Amino acid sequence: MLRIAVMVSGGGTNLQAIIDGVKDGTITNTEIVGVISNNRNAYALKRAEENGIPSLCVSPKDYETREIFNEKLLEAVDGLQPDLIVLAGFLVVIPPAMIQKYRNRMINIHPSLIPSFCGKGYYGLKVHEAALERGVKVVGATVHFVDEGTDTGPIILQKAVEVEQGDTPEILQRRVMEQAEWKILPRAIDLIANGRVRVEGNKTVID
Ligand code: GAR
Repeated sequence: MLRIAVMVSGGGTNLQAIIDGVKDGTITNTEIVGVISNNRNAYALKRAEENGIPSLCVSPKDYETREIFNEKLLEAVDGLQPDLIVLAGFLVVIPPAMIQKYRNRMINIHPSLIPSFCGKGYYGLKVHEAALERGVKVVGATVHFVDEGTDTGPIILQKAVEVEQGDTPEILQRRVMEQAEWKILPRAIDLIANGRVRVEGNKTVID
């Protein structure tokens, strides 16, 4: 069984897709051992509670310095003894020590086709605003391993989604979630849980 810890900041629809995937067998050999949020009011915490999954909040507001917060966050993660960390809309800069410790054992879902619309400042709705602003016709989502850069780690899965006439950032965000994120994140976890993802340099090979 792959023990996964899911880290969240907001609504938690990706967390829900993982919970549903484990329940309906789309994700196999996997147990969600805990949910960690940086935001006490995240609806994602409610989703964890409703599904009997242990959850905790580690907020930067509760600590005097970023360094202390980073230590507490890593302690909370380590406490769950996860095999894999899943960043599911976790909008906090990951402590360098955590990146090092969980190299190739931490994945992130990003709401664009990397390397478009990614990196510093591109998160959540901002990604979709930028895509509409640029007038691209195809957008999508990416699941990748986390390395020291922002959205630069080895790509595991991507899925494209078409932009439609009259899209607003909110409408586009929803379509990208429905058609891409909620599909490729559970799929990536299942692949990892079944030993089918190999990292070779800055790429992955799916067996
Ligand atoms: C998702 O669209 C996810 O891809 C994005 O935040 C949203 C969280 O929604 N993540 C990033 O932008 C990371 N750079 P959710 O809380 O409903 O899963």
